[in-house]
Amino acid sequence: MKFVINTKAILGVAFFTILGLSPVVYAAPPDAVAGKAKAQTCFACHGEDGISVSPDIPNLAAQPPLSITYQLIQFRGQQRKGGAMEALAAPLSDQDMRDIAAYFASLPAPPAKSGNADQIARGQQISNTQYCSSCHGPQLQGQKHIARLAGQSKEYLIAQLKNIRSGARIDMDGTMGSAARGLSDEDIQDLAAYAASLK
Ligand code: HEC
Ligand code: HEC
Repeated sequence: MKFVINTKAILGVAFFTILGLSPVVYAAPPDAVAGKAKAQTCFACHGEDGISVSPDIPNLAAQPPLSITYQLIQFRGQQRKGGAMEALAAPLSDQDMRDIAAYFASLPAPPAKSGNADQIARGQQISNTQYCSSCHGPQLQGQKHIARLAGQSKEYLIAQLKNIRSGARIDMDGTMGSAARGLSDEDIQDLAAYAASLK
């Protein structure tokens, strides 16, 4: 008999225990229609279509719902800070977050961004050797609690990768921190160009 210990799952549960939340106890199912009504204050920056109005603001369209929810929980708890999001997330209940996440997740993905072909090719190569797709999905489209990177703003991706690398942005289970630690500034530029170029 073989016992496989999933350290990621254990760490994930520890993270939510620290936040005083259970990852499994959900009250009502997420409601995208209610979510749209609750997301009115978000549209000025993230767009009604989930495509943000400026490059330092992330697109939320087609983000995995769990990724949106968990980021909002981190902003509300002030574990993650930036863009005044702590204040915006503060009044939201867990149910509000799940409804809003369901709304943005249901929207069509952002368009692929054009870029320098050599840089995109280098980014793809680094992504392969660093196994970015093993967590973010084959087309970096995101999955479960892990963000979509495809079609995201380059500037936003660069800023976040640098923040995660330096530890200025914490990550919930440490996996992304280790993925970013070995990246050079140039790697980060190339990876961002590649991810932005995907649909
Ligand atoms: C004033 C502009 C503004 C408003 C309004 C706003 N956001 Fe944000 N949001 C930002 C910025 C800027 C960031 C990036 C923060 C950073 O630098 O880490 C962000 C980040 C996020 C993220 C993280 C996305 C990711 O890929 O990690 C989520 C989720 C989010 N916002 C949801 C919301 C929701 C839901 C609302 C409405 C309740 C909202 N935002 C309102 C500017 C805004
Ligand atoms: C072991 C799994 C794993 C691997 C491998 C991984 N990531 Fe991540 N990544 C995550 C998780 C989990 C998060 C969310 C972190 C958090 O906020 O707690 C994340 C977040 C991110 C973010 C922030 C996205 C946003 O919307 O704010 C970027 C950018 C990113 N990863 C890029 C990459 C790149 C580029 C690679 C390859 C060099 C990579 N990741 C490899 C798991 C991984």
